[in-house]
Amino acid sequence: MEKATITLHRELRIGEVDNRLYGSFIEHLGRAIYGGIYEPDHPTADEDGFRRDVIDLVKELQVPIVRYPGGNFVSGYNWKDGVGPIEKRPRRLELAWKTIETNEVGTNEFVTWAKKAKTEAMMAINLGTRGVDDARNLVEYCNHPGGTQWSNLRISHGYKEPHDIPVWCLGNEMDGGWQIGHKTAVEYGRLAQECAKVMKWVDPRIELVVCGSSNRGMPTFVDWEATVLDYTYELVDYISLHTYFGNRSGDSPNFLAKSVGMDAFIEEVIATCDYVKARKRSKKTMMLSFDEWNVWYHSNTADRQLPRWSIAPPQLEDIYNFEDALVVGCMLISLLKHVDRVKMACLAQLVNVIAPIMTETGGGVYRQTIFYPYLHASVYGRGTALNISVKSPSYQDREFDQVPYLEAVATMDEEAEALTVFAVNRNLEESLALEGDVRDFADYVVVEHIVLEHANLKAVNTMDEPDNVVPHTSGRAKVEARQLEALLPRASWNVIRLEKRK
Ligand code: AHR
Repeated sequence: MEKATITLHRELRIGEVDNRLYGSFIEHLGRAIYGGIYEPDHPTADEDGFRRDVIDLVKELQVPIVRYPGGNFVSGYNWKDGVGPIEKRPRRLELAWKTIETNEVGTNEFVTWAKKAKTEAMMAINLGTRGVDDARNLVEYCNHPGGTQWSNLRISHGYKEPHDIPVWCLGNEMDGGWQIGHKTAVEYGRLAQECAKVMKWVDPRIELVVCGSSNRGMPTFVDWEATVLDYTYELVDYISLHTYFGNRSGDSPNFLAKSVGMDAFIEEVIATCDYVKARKRSKKTMMLSFDEWNVWYHSNTADRQLPRWSIAPPQLEDIYNFEDALVVGCMLISLLKHVDRVKMACLAQLVNVIAPIMTETGGGVYRQTIFYPYLHASVYGRGTALNISVKSPSYQDREFDQVPYLEAVATMDEEAEALTVFAVNRNLEESLALEGDVRDFADYVVVEHIVLEHANLKAVNTMDEPDNVVPHTSGRAKVEARQLEALLPRASWNVIRLEKRK
């Protein structure tokens, strides 16, 4: 059996984990809102029409922040369509996803839902078809206490207290030709600059995310970031990154290696931000918001066959298999390895649309395979991320050259005296023996070794069989003579939890 080693030292820190690293995303798309979080006729619906069964799972995940209302949707959205008396709200042709939007749910309903789900809203504004005026008015509507036209309108809609939305995205994927109101980097950079300026004049407390490239493969990648930041560097707090992976060719070793590309993407964006910083002789360091990331490909063919102009059709309903959960685990590790610069991230999305939580409209709810790594990282991966210097055997991949079998990171919660190792064994044939130098953590013992494994990489959970792919806690990791020893089964996600002996 091959062996990999890690070294854990409490002073070898990557940085503090911002809790918003475990954010998610809900778009007006498919059944994310209607039939997902909102279904007034559902047996579990509360007085506002929100599904309690879904809220319970969102709370279980401890999601700190949820991006809303898009995504591509936001680039054609008029926020005024979604406030005020529901019966007066217009039905609109929704051009991003070719559906009909009823506007039954809008800004106020979403904020109400977020409070119930113990999360916070991250609001995106429309920079496709709208601009400065709408941006400042929406911040005033949401965050100004009262006594002005837009804040009074919110109060007249029944929301006396301001929503105090802390984070705002300046549009969505504005570099993409598929975007309503797609722009060049110069056009977008100027617009984002003016919006950022006036939005912060309305509420100086807010933080702003400017759009980076839609993905690493965009032909304008890096030049887009450099140009957009040239206009906005001193006004914004984060630049966004988006990435979706898929296993279209059926090459699982390559699919499992995709997070190596995610590492490179993050590092390239950091390098570009720092180049702009140097060019501007700025004292400010730009942070990153990885506000869309996931596996997305299973539903592509079905989506192409959906008829246009229906209400809440089953779009982007990927049914995730076991190997997808391993990739999501690797992506979470990639985020954790960069917490010195990646402060926020959003698993896209949260319910029904490429999501860890699946519902049946009028029926039940279940946890997809990817629910579990996201849950474990969100619950146990807070505190300080450690640079654990991984030494691992590797395999040759057509895209990434030498890929380590072991993907791993650790977090330390100093107050709770807890240490957690997150590890994926990418080897599809054999277990990996893990040895960890934990001399710096005297008296720490393993309290739990969670393992997600399955004989079939393509195994899925469904409404009828919701517990086909679930983690177990029979992993046998132990500390002996200040050495962590664990067996990581072939193709597995592992969470090794240590605590100081009481
Ligand atoms: O999350 C689904 C879509 O992916 C979003 O609407 C868009 O921003 C991205 O292309």
